[in-house]
Amino acid sequence: MPRSKPVALGVLIGSIATVGIAAVAGIAYVYSGSYNVAATESHAPTMRWALDTSYENSVRSRAETIEPPAELTPEMVEAGGERYAAMCAHCHGGPGAEPAGWSRGMRPEPPILWHAASEWESREVFWLVKHGVKMSGMPAFGTDHEDAAIWEITAFVKELPAMRPETYESLTAGANGHGQSTESHSE
Ligand code: HEC
Repeated sequence: MPRSKPVALGVLIGSIATVGIAAVAGIAYVYSGSYNVAATESHAPTMRWALDTSYENSVRSRAETIEPPAELTPEMVEAGGERYAAMCAHCHGGPGAEPAGWSRGMRPEPPILWHAASEWESREVFWLVKHGVKMSGMPAFGTDHEDAAIWEITAFVKELPAMRPETYESLTAGANGHGQSTESHSE
């Protein structure tokens, strides 16, 4: 096969040139500002797929090693209610409680949690609340809340899908609604 070497060399040079052209085109696209970052526009479908898939797989794999408490008790659910109303409900709503109107202008739109909570294991909810989600608006509450407080919120979130509006209202009644965490360091 005397001709195979030049052919292989040609393929190699062609591949390097293609990758180089794609890289230059990518960089030019980034600098041009052509991608519309307006939250009033949805992401392009391929971008949405890439972000959603990477988001879900990243959370699931990172939460795998978290050991939840032996039991998420009714006391934890109760303690988590006020925290949820103060820190989460304006973005995620609750049974019988609409989220704040401005949160519907976020991209991604914060999911209505009493539907979405059943899709995540408790250790995954814990991970999401503790670490937040980059480039989405989901804050990391682990920066100023102890793990014990985050497990209480998790216990409450996992009860949401089956919670009646009256129960939600009574469990969240004492919240100050300002998302403050002044008490968190003494827990
Ligand atoms: C400022 C708005 C905002 C606040 C406040 C907020 N979140 Fe979120 N949250 C989001 C957004 C946006 C996402 C979607 C992230 C994505 O899809 O990339 C999200 C995702 C989640 C998810 C995963 C749901 C799913 O199916 O993707 C959980 C669970 C969650 N948040 C729980 C909470 C809890 C509990 C609190 C309060 C301690 C909270 N969030 C506070 C905006 C918020």
